[in-house]
Amino acid sequence: MRLRTRIGPAMNLYRKLVRPLLFQCDPEWTHHTALAFGGLVGQSRLGLKALEALYGFEDPRLQTTVAGLRFPNPVCLPGGFDKSGHAVAAIAAVGFGAVEVGSVSAHPSAGNPERPRLFRVPDDEAMMVYYGVPNDGARVVAQRLAGTRLPVPLGINIVETNTGKPINGAELIDELTDALRVLKPLASYITVNMNCPNSAGGISPLDDPATLQRLLESFAACGQLPPVFLKIRLNPEPAAIDAVLAVTDAFPFVKGFVPSVGSKRPYVGLKTPQAVLDRMPGSLSGPFARDGATRVIGAWYARIDPQRYALLGAGGIVTAEHAYARIRAGASLVQVYGAMIYNGPGVIHDIKEGLCALLERDGLAHIHDAVGADART
Ligand SMILES: Cc1cc2nc3c(=O)[nH]c(=O)nc-3n(C[C@H](O)[C@H](O)[C@H](O)COP(=O)(O)O)c2cc1C
Repeated sequence: MRLRTRIGPAMNLYRKLVRPLLFQCDPEWTHHTALAFGGLVGQSRLGLKALEALYGFEDPRLQTTVAGLRFPNPVCLPGGFDKSGHAVAAIAAVGFGAVEVGSVSAHPSAGNPERPRLFRVPDDEAMMVYYGVPNDGARVVAQRLAGTRLPVPLGINIVETNTGKPINGAELIDELTDALRVLKPLASYITVNMNCPNSAGGISPLDDPATLQRLLESFAACGQLPPVFLKIRLNPEPAAIDAVLAVTDAFPFVKGFVPSVGSKRPYVGLKTPQAVLDRMPGSLSGPFARDGATRVIGAWYARIDPQRYALLGAGGIVTAEHAYARIRAGASLVQVYGAMIYNGPGVIHDIKEGLCALLERDGLAHIHDAVGADART
């Protein structure tokens, strides 16, 4: 039976009424306004209740435990939306299974100086991102998040401070360790954004396993740590994956990976003309990356011990079918961002509802039964 994803009323309303208005405005302004609105709504009990009533969808089949943390559902918000932790309560209230703040760097950063630095690519429902990780810095974010109680895990994604200059391995390790020390008391989990903003040509010092080893040694010296996930862009060659695992195996606090392949220019197979994309700096994310990202999860799942590591799947997920395919390929959790820009927060409700229908279709009792199912068949 072919199951078609239902478009719920909230998503319908957003696409028909809200999006056309929002898309008249500058993308970065819209982003800041959405966060400010979320921050405001999140301050009132009534506001949070209204969000829950509008977007809520809970089902015990979707509850899952990953890296020892309980997630009410596997559909999470990745780093990049709430970079400095302004709206975490509202984000949790719209039904994400976890909220990841960041990327946060040890020092505050205004990001890239050029404007504009965020672009919609509507024909492909994609985003070109050239922010350069602006954020308030670890100490301000830690203060803002102090005392936060959420019904879902709070991840914090860390990165080195954007200086616009290439960084060497030792400086990078100091930066990330500083951010980790400040933020670890607040975080249910930490994600290390290894897609270094100061890198030349997309190559990070952390691509070298010896530097990764020194980073994790430096982390280990920080005492008790929450689970750490590595957001890693790497060609999914078995040897490259094994080289990473050979390092991380010795560090029990590394609980998993958010693997992705960097989308590189020229982007192929898009509806948007190349000349239009050429006028936008940055890197592109969106549905065009979906199948590649699912294959990367499959490649990692084939190499890891699933009892030891979990995979988080990000990239191009819009519907329940996309999320389910990523989970069946080996992801224990999925992360969804761009689909929210194009479809509104109702997309999270619809993905969760659709996941339950897909479990039923396949005779699976629980979402964790689907993790890696394609590798077993
Ligand atoms: C506007 C925007 C800003 C982002 N900023 C960050 C960031 O600061 N740190 C990070 O690790 N990923 C960042 N990302 C990447 C997302 O976390 C995610 O991995 C990516 O968008 C793929 O998922 P999607 O296709 O659902 O959007 C950003 C993405 C977007 C669209």
